[in-house]
Amino acid sequence: MTDRAVSPPTVDEVRQLLRSVIDPELGDNIVDLGMVDSVSIEAGVVTIGVKLTIKGCPLRAQIKNDIESRLETHPGVGKVKIVWGEMNAEERSEVMTKARWNARENAGDTAVPNSARVLAIASGKGGVGKSSVTANLAVALASHGHVVGVLDADIWGFSIPRMLGMSDRLEARRVDGVEKPRIVPNERTVGSGLLKVVSTGMLVEDEGTALMWRGLMLTKAVEQFLNDVHWGDLDYLLIDMPPGTGDVQMGLARMLPRTDLIIVTTPAVSAQKVAIRAADMARRSFLRVAGVIENMSHFTCEHGTIYPLFGEGGGTTLANEIGAELLGQVPIENAVASGSDIGEPVALSGSSAAAEVFRDIAKKIVAATVPVTEMAGCSARLLESVEIALGKKPR
Ligand SMILES: Nc1ncnc2c1ncn2[C@@H]1O[C@H](COP(=O)(O)OP(=O)(O)OP(=O)(O)O)[C@@H](O)[C@H]1O
Ligand SMILES: [Mg+2]
Repeated sequence: MTDRAVSPPTVDEVRQLLRSVIDPELGDNIVDLGMVDSVSIEAGVVTIGVKLTIKGCPLRAQIKNDIESRLETHPGVGKVKIVWGEMNAEERSEVMTKARWNARENAGDTAVPNSARVLAIASGKGGVGKSSVTANLAVALASHGHVVGVLDADIWGFSIPRMLGMSDRLEARRVDGVEKPRIVPNERTVGSGLLKVVSTGMLVEDEGTALMWRGLMLTKAVEQFLNDVHWGDLDYLLIDMPPGTGDVQMGLARMLPRTDLIIVTTPAVSAQKVAIRAADMARRSFLRVAGVIENMSHFTCEHGTIYPLFGEGGGTTLANEIGAELLGQVPIENAVASGSDIGEPVALSGSSAAAEVFRDIAKKIVAATVPVTEMAGCSARLLESVEIALGKKPR
């Protein structure tokens, strides 16, 4: 063996080797993500300081293995020591910005204008009121004078056309001299604002025909709604998510990484159950959370007595669990359901408590006073809840 072969690596060489260690959650190498805090080399022992987004990061073991196996490819490395640290809030936010930036770089362009704030209305569970929230926030935002796009990503379970009273077939035409025809969203004027809506419900004959879409690749359909729609000017784009946290969320994270999630829950949904799904979502994407909405919070009878029909505390617990803000609690009201049935969401002109809450949430969104929450940073915390929920058994 020559001297050169056994001489220890330089700090630069170590950093170069570490560039092949990828944080799978953040999708970039640990050096460029700023996770490698220090490198020192002494008598063949390489000591690396690694800062994790959170100390109990579930990926720690994998990162450790990857660092060791990469460094051991250098003949001058005798031993590898890793000193774990934790990022502070500012560093965490910086690393997430970088990860999002990378995702954006790889995402390619969509037809959604950069100026639009993109909010996806999601939940860990079906039937909690995502579509009702989407429809009501859309009209409330539009009545502030905004142009609000609504993308119904519930490809085969769409309810947006009915809830917004917009069922005309979508047309495709050549716009702005562009060769390829584009889907033109259906429009509805609301006060001084405008809704621009696309849904597979506007492509098929009736709600029943939607079943035929079952074989369709979900993400492909959403991709088409992002890329092939002539959105034009938009202030907001609301995306009504299908139940669950699977392919569509992942597709969105990839195609439109600036999407922030609004998570809808009911007071009854056990925090752990939601945490399981939210943790899953957090692990696999790095969308931020703009807030939590508790729907079906309580029912007030004609005598003014309040009944927490579906339990209490779900919204607050979930918001605390993921470190996000509770944007509002929407009561159970017949007006919410009947407004959706006739295409006149209650927030349009209703004077009920639910209408007020929807309008209040829209005001908060417009004022942009609510801080967004990084999900990846809290995935370890959420995973802890998962393990507790599952009796300490990892999934
Ligand atoms: N606050 C409320 N008060 C009364 N009824 C409500 C309220 N919110 C939603 N509903 C009703 O509950 C049902 C489910 O709501 P919605 O369709 O909005 O849920 P979802 O989460 O979009 O469901 P899915 O997961 O199937 O897409 C609808 O019939 C709706 O009208
Ligand atoms: Mg729905």
